[in-house]
Amino acid sequence: MSKQLWKPGNMLYPVPAVMVSCKRRDERPNIITVAWAGTVCSDPAMVSISVRPERYSHDIIEDSGEFVINLVTDKLTKACDWCGVRSGRDHDKFREMRLTEYTSELIGAPAIAESPVNIYCRVVKTEKLGSHDMFIGEVVGVTVDDAYMDEKGRFALEACGLITYSHGEYYALGRKLGKFGYSVKKKDGRHTGNKSKQSPDKRSVKKKNGKK
Ligand SMILES: Cc1cc2nc3c(=O)[nH]c(=O)nc-3n(C[C@H](O)[C@H](O)[C@H](O)COP(=O)(O)O)c2cc1C
Repeated sequence: MSKQLWKPGNMLYPVPAVMVSCKRRDERPNIITVAWAGTVCSDPAMVSISVRPERYSHDIIEDSGEFVINLVTDKLTKACDWCGVRSGRDHDKFREMRLTEYTSELIGAPAIAESPVNIYCRVVKTEKLGSHDMFIGEVVGVTVDDAYMDEKGRFALEACGLITYSHGEYYALGRKLGKFGYSVKKKDGRHTGNKSKQSPDKRSVKKKNGKK
């Protein structure tokens, strides 16, 4: 096997590309596209976004201490890209992309109504890393689009048409290959071994419901 050795760089792909909405009091809201975003803790639920200090959104998030992560669907991809190449210094992104502000009682920043999942965050820590400042946000609530609740009361995330970002390109998610733990599942549905039997997200939901 032969491999090329590259200089250090970001090659952790695919990643989510998300639309982060933010707002300072008495100012119009803004949207920044972020690919350097991730889940960093289950309990308390925490996420991170890394934002360059020169972005217009950077100081808004720093000053307000809040942001909303809006998941991106195939229908939102063009707006996601546009919000990532235009600045709120020169554009009213909600208006120009014909997006709707969805206000909640959770925080001052509005979510994007057209996004099926909105994650409301309060900044609990900021790490100055170099090119980017990483805002770690505690999740204070999540709103999901009722249209994707199925008859059993399950949220059908797989039906939302979410996209991913890989090496400069956007992709629709492909076919399902398996589910958490399927590699060790026996034919009768039981797991082998005594390792974790539920995905990290399911575990935290159970705990919140007091079942664990
Ligand atoms: C797909 C994509 C991903 C991006 N990811 C990031 C990111 O993780 N962090 C960042 O600071 N900028 C990122 N950008 C660039 C900003 O979204 C872009 O500079 C935007 O115009 C900033 O908007 P603002 O000046 O209104 O804040 C990304 C852009 C695109 C298109």
